[in-house]
Amino acid sequence: AAAAWQPSSQPKTAVIAHRGASGYAPEHTLSSYRLAARMQADYIEVDVRAAKDGKLVALHDATLARTTNAETVYPRRAPWRVNDFSFAELRRLDAGSWFHPRFAGERIPTLDEVIQMLKAERVEAPLYIETKQPGIEEAVVHLLKKHGFLQQRRVMFQSFHPESLQALRPLIPHGIRLIQLVGEKEAHSGRDELLQQIAVYADGIGLPLSAVTEEWVRAAHGRGLIVHVYTVNEPHDLARLCAMGVDGLFTDYPDRPGRIAACR
Ligand code: G3P
Ligand code: CA
Repeated sequence: AAAAWQPSSQPKTAVIAHRGASGYAPEHTLSSYRLAARMQADYIEVDVRAAKDGKLVALHDATLARTTNAETVYPRRAPWRVNDFSFAELRRLDAGSWFHPRFAGERIPTLDEVIQMLKAERVEAPLYIETKQPGIEEAVVHLLKKHGFLQQRRVMFQSFHPESLQALRPLIPHGIRLIQLVGEKEAHSGRDELLQQIAVYADGIGLPLSAVTEEWVRAAHGRGLIVHVYTVNEPHDLARLCAMGVDGLFTDYPDRPGRIAACR
């Protein structure tokens, strides 16, 4: 785990653009990531999954129905699981219209395209990659290396799957952070034992908003773990958590924390 946390090492609460600027643009599209960069997010979050042929794509859900027109394009392919579709098939889908008609024609981007866009547009915010399914670690690392992102430490990793973070550790350079995400149920059960386990292989913990308390933050920091909280959108929650000293906030509205004194 990381060296013991020190207040001076974290000048402000990091703003993590959750699925891009997903309050303003369809999540996990290039538009959403571009907007997050323009809003000066400190990190851009990308949930990563593999298509049937292994191509890495940016998508949150395991199925396509919520954020694409898959039900219309492939009416006989229920339940529209991402890993039942080749990348060429995924590419036919519209990933923008569900959010607003002005985003019609947005496609599901590959992780490669996300990185290429960041480089082409000189975006400096690092990627914050969530491995949504264990087993994709080597492919993710290979791609990041190809673009120099691992060498330049322009990335941080998170997962709900401990085995995914454990698989990443030997593949990445020293200093790149691994964050263990914790679900609602787990966060509301035991705390100290959980933190003890996580501190063995991770550098931080991602907690749901409903579970965070000052005691949680103190206990995590006491074990040398940084604390990131998901998903924080309301100004009163942003202010409260920044004042509490959390290290980062996932938000769908990356422009909001900058307007809150406690977060600056
Ligand atoms: O990674 C933090 C947060 O994104 C976890 O929840 O469901 O939005 O991926 P989810
Ligand atoms: Ca996520």
